Amino acid sequence: MIEFKFFVNRLSKTINIARGSNKNGRGMLIPVVLLTIAIALALIHISVPASYYAYMVKKAGCELEGSCIDDDSYPTVTVIIPTYNEAKIIERKIRDVLRQDYPKDKMEVLVVDSGSDDGTAGIAEGLGVEVLRQEGRKGKGNALNYALSRSSGEVIIISDADSTWVGGDAIKKAVSLLKEYGGVTCIKEAYNKGIEKPYRDLYNNLRVGESCFYSTPIAHGEFFAFKRGLIEGFSEDIGADDSRASHEIAMRGNRFIATKSIVCKELVPEKGYLHWRIRRAQHLVQHFSKVLREIKEVRDPRYKRILQVESYLHLFNPWFLIVALSLDVASSCLNNITAIALLALFFISLLSAKARTWIITQFLLALSQVRNAFTKEIVWKKEAK
Ligand code: GDD
Ligand code: MN
Repeated sequence: MIEFKFFVNRLSKTINIARGSNKNGRGMLIPVVLLTIAIALALIHISVPASYYAYMVKKAGCELEGSCIDDDSYPTVTVIIPTYNEAKIIERKIRDVLRQDYPKDKMEVLVVDSGSDDGTAGIAEGLGVEVLRQEGRKGKGNALNYALSRSSGEVIIISDADSTWVGGDAIKKAVSLLKEYGGVTCIKEAYNKGIEKPYRDLYNNLRVGESCFYSTPIAHGEFFAFKRGLIEGFSEDIGADDSRASHEIAMRGNRFIATKSIVCKELVPEKGYLHWRIRRAQHLVQHFSKVLREIKEVRDPRYKRILQVESYLHLFNPWFLIVALSLDVASSCLNNITAIALLALFFISLLSAKARTWIITQFLLALSQVRNAFTKEIVWKKEAK
């Protein structure tokens, strides 16, 4: 009889624990389960990009070599500068392109302006370059297609008005690399924003690492060079027209590379910085959402692997952090000391600039997915720089 009572007692205790109550009547199982799931998600969130990054950083040490070109066999180059209300900076941009060391009779500069009302087109014409005027504004991709149809170069280089190239031999370097590869983009530095640095360092390493591995699926409008004929045209329904074009180049069996030998400097908006980051994230999310739908068609296994990881990192990984954090908060609210300690650790990690940059980027990526449901920002508001 005593044994039977003991057995019933044990059984009821076990059932209580399973239902989430300890002897004080407080929940135990639920907070522990919540925390376990949170830790598992957080580990996935950290380990996938960390191992990808470690792998790509090792690769990034490679030399991406171009071919020598004789002075008289340089190809003709068209530099296309899309503009919308860039009066403040267009002169600096055009002078930066014209100072490049490249045979002038082989170089054409086209500014394609979409109805700026601040005199951008007039300033550009005054500097002696050809200006293509569009009446209204249908977006950067649309303007680039118009310029592409009017260009004559064997090599095309797209470059945003708010960027300059470090050194005077960016075009020569690109042309030499284009002997070996389908397309070339730069690595980027911000002119004016310290908080961009850790993010830029991470991204530059990844782009170069992917280029060494095979091909990078992210390109920069600050310097985007390719051989004529390798793309049909620029996308007008995906904001990241440049990255989309780099993907098209790679899908046709040509490598698209980012090189450390070409550095772009870019102006980062002083006002509206967060909106600017969200819009750019939105454009990349549009790009990778489309890539994911086409991933079955990718033939090169190396490029397929890059696309799988990058699509995952842009579309899914940010949510793992957000769900992990929410579960940890929920577990903390149920008095789980370990969850509270981990939450404190998370806030302490924000003191590190690298961790802060990473976490902010994750939230921006998630937010940008939500925002894409409402507006794609193919034609975007001009931020003051
Ligand atoms: N012609 C034309 N028409 N040019 C435009 C338009 C337009 O409707 N909208 C913007 N531009 C020009 C700008 O004047 C600038 O020279 C260039 O396109 C890039 O615009 P930014 O406003 O500087 O864009 P961003 O730096 O924030 O955006 C970056 O990411 C985009 C994808 O998210 C750039 O790298 C873009 O090139 C890229 O497409
Ligand atoms: Mn810009």
